[in-house]
Amino acid sequence: MAKNPTPVRLGMVGGGSGAFIGAVHRMAARLDGRFELVAGALSSTPERSVASGAELGLRRAYGTWEEMLQAESTRDPAERIEAVSIVTPNHMHYPVALAFVEAGLNVICDKPMTVDSNQARALEAAVAASGVVFGVTYNYTGYPLVKEARRLVASGALGELRKVVIEYHQGWLATRLEEDGNKQAGWRADPALAGTGGAIGDIGSHAENLAATVTGLHVEELCADLTPVVPGRRLDDDANVLLRFTGGVKGVLVASQVAIGAENDLRLTVNGSRGSLHWRQEDPNRLVVHLLNAPTQVLTRAGGPYLGAAAAAATRIPSGHPEGFIEAFAEVYRNVAEAIRLRERSANAGGMGSDDASPSDAGLSSAVPDYPSVNDGARGVAFIEAAVASQAGGSVWVKVGRGA
Ligand SMILES: NC(=O)c1ccc[n+]([C@@H]2O[C@H](COP(=O)([O-])OP(=O)(O)OC[C@H]3O[C@@H](n4cnc5c(N)ncnc54)[C@H](O)[C@@H]3O)[C@@H](O)[C@H]2O)c1
Repeated sequence: MAKNPTPVRLGMVGGGSGAFIGAVHRMAARLDGRFELVAGALSSTPERSVASGAELGLRRAYGTWEEMLQAESTRDPAERIEAVSIVTPNHMHYPVALAFVEAGLNVICDKPMTVDSNQARALEAAVAASGVVFGVTYNYTGYPLVKEARRLVASGALGELRKVVIEYHQGWLATRLEEDGNKQAGWRADPALAGTGGAIGDIGSHAENLAATVTGLHVEELCADLTPVVPGRRLDDDANVLLRFTGGVKGVLVASQVAIGAENDLRLTVNGSRGSLHWRQEDPNRLVVHLLNAPTQVLTRAGGPYLGAAAAAATRIPSGHPEGFIEAFAEVYRNVAEAIRLRERSANAGGMGSDDASPSDAGLSSAVPDYPSVNDGARGVAFIEAAVASQAGGSVWVKVGRGA
């Protein structure tokens, strides 16, 4: 009988009192019992870090991430953290991620992974050298019906792809919230903390990743019109981007944070020569598929044996019981945990397959862990950089490279 895999001992950087996404990471990490949060350096000052840790009842609350790295590295190996989640504003991702990767720790980092491609490339190289598991929380790829959409495209059901449309509409930055002491708006409006992209970095990077994951195509060239619509703002809060994917497939990406009334309205349409599919994050348990000359189909999460293995594996409760954001986020965590345990097992056994116990005996799935990697993170950074360069050049076509 399968044992429960031992939870991965997790540390967290960022996500202190009053923060947004850190709490979501904690819920997602806990959902499947595959992580145990044991340490953290949760805020930007030592006092707030320790106080935030105490609020969570954290056993090892450190003042700074450097202190956490130092102290954890010298602990008994059976107790020290095995992975760290980085949920700070964007400018801190790189120094923290690099230090932990170089210390041989696994990393889960929020997006955008870094603020420029030089950092992203350095991180890719460091991950390759150390062999650690590095996941980026492009959490929208964790929805079962996003996995199903990817399977449908790969199966050829839509025929040859023709056009991909990704929209991400939010309205919360329609006024200068950053001037009103809003913590999340404050750093997002500051290029020194957010990087060179505003909406294009904050939500456009999710959109790029969703399109690339579902279609298997990468944006090769783009032409961007980025605007700070709200007067006085330095970074774009509205982005309209024409895309050319691998093989000449056309696309459009719209990312706006000034769309009054819009909440977290991420939408994907993929059009092919034999059909199209449509998915919305605010209605994530339904996938609409139109096949040429056939009635419209609405696929539902856990809707039956017509769903592929990846979608089925990502669903936790029977159909009709809504699953959502936390479960999709937890998919990234579950797969990262799986990858960490597989790597460890492989190292102990001298390579996967040479051990006499199967992954399922250890409570691990036999499927290859599927999570957004450091390379996905680097591609997202290159996308943001290309969009900003296009705008700076007068909305010209720019190739999406890996840095200037
Ligand atoms: N994947 C998603 O859906 C998603 C959603 C929201 C935000 N994000 C990303 O998550 C990150 C955090 O965003 P947020 O909205 O939660 O921001 P936030 O401002 O709410 O939280 C940031 C936290 O980091 C802490 N922090 C800052 N500097 C630190 C340091 N040196 N050491 C330790 N802690 C430090 C702050 O004190 C705060 O607790 C950003 O990179 C953002 O792009 C991702």
